[in-house]
Amino acid sequence: MGKKKVVILGCGGFVGSHLTERLLARGDYEIEGFDTQVTKIEQHLDNPRLRIHEVYVDNETTVPEIEPFLDDCHAVISLAAVCTPSQYVSNPVHTIHSNFIHAYKLIDLCAKHKSWLFHTSTCEVYGRTLSSYIPGEDYTNPALYEQVEDETPLVMGPTVNHRWSYAAAKALFERYVLAHNQETGLPFTIIRPYNWFGPKMDFIPGRDGEGVPRVLACFMTALLDGQPMQLVDGGEAYRTITYIDDAVDALEAMLENPSKSKNQIFNVGNREDGEIKMKDLAELMRQTYAEITGDESYRQHPIEQITGEKFYGGGYEDCDRRVPSIEKAQRLLGWEPKTRLPETLRRTMAHYHEAYGR
Ligand code: UGA
Repeated sequence: MGKKKVVILGCGGFVGSHLTERLLARGDYEIEGFDTQVTKIEQHLDNPRLRIHEVYVDNETTVPEIEPFLDDCHAVISLAAVCTPSQYVSNPVHTIHSNFIHAYKLIDLCAKHKSWLFHTSTCEVYGRTLSSYIPGEDYTNPALYEQVEDETPLVMGPTVNHRWSYAAAKALFERYVLAHNQETGLPFTIIRPYNWFGPKMDFIPGRDGEGVPRVLACFMTALLDGQPMQLVDGGEAYRTITYIDDAVDALEAMLENPSKSKNQIFNVGNREDGEIKMKDLAELMRQTYAEITGDESYRQHPIEQITGEKFYGGGYEDCDRRVPSIEKAQRLLGWEPKTRLPETLRRTMAHYHEAYGR
């Protein structure tokens, strides 16, 4: 049987590396992978079913390089973009370029070839919850905070807060895909990830990258370096944390079931087992690290408070809560997350400990 060819933009990133590994393990996919960073997939570079194009994907020159591969392509999987909140605030121009201005040409190209555009958007397009704007509403009414793909309004804070540069660019990308679907028949799938955690996520500053990564890597760096874990604005924000293997199960189910997944938007998040406040995440991570290392002192690892403004700079505003409806993914794909949060953290943190903690 013929192999399915896919183009993966950002095959060397966190999600890209896990998806590449999964598709190569199946044996029936061939990958044209675009990325300049390939250390996360270096064990696969000799695989004849993976061809790497060392092209900086976050760039307008990329699109013509992809075009030759589109005609017999099963899907164009777009995973590459700036996705760390520190950059939305410190470098909003680059954030908008990365997530829309350079990226929209890919949509035009896929529309021209009628190629299936398989795009990772973000749960951040929902912005904040309606609950957060209603005085006294303490998440008692799920209709005011649960996020349903084709129904829930997008509630971003004021444009003066650069935090929303990313969500606005991602939302415009989605809108442009939907516009093309209507006018030119572009086939698409849009995925909204909910805090996917796992080995190889982001980077550890000073070891394999520079800057401020997302919360998992921030807390992990603090544990590795003996520095306090920093809780932004009291750590009151909730996140719904999803193990990367469960997320890749969802992506695989979509790729394998085009008749169910084409022209749909899917939330992919672990709403049953994965929701936690950031202050509880810090607590759980220090307990988990004590278990991984056998060093009981981590149970009391220092945690300090910091304001969002001091941590990220001016223009930061947080998403208060993200609870996905996953009814659509359950109904159309039979997908459900399987990994409970303690296991997600144990597997993820063990990876960082192996890589950097010894
Ligand atoms: C980011 C992206 O903006 C989303 O698009 C993406 O979907 C999401 O990550 C993801 O990983 O899926 P966010 O969850 O706000 O969104 O990013 P984090 O940096 O992981 O922050 C999570 C929470 O932890 C925020 O409340 C933040 O203020 C807090 N935080 C972060 C701390 O308390 N301490 C830190 O050291 C870092």
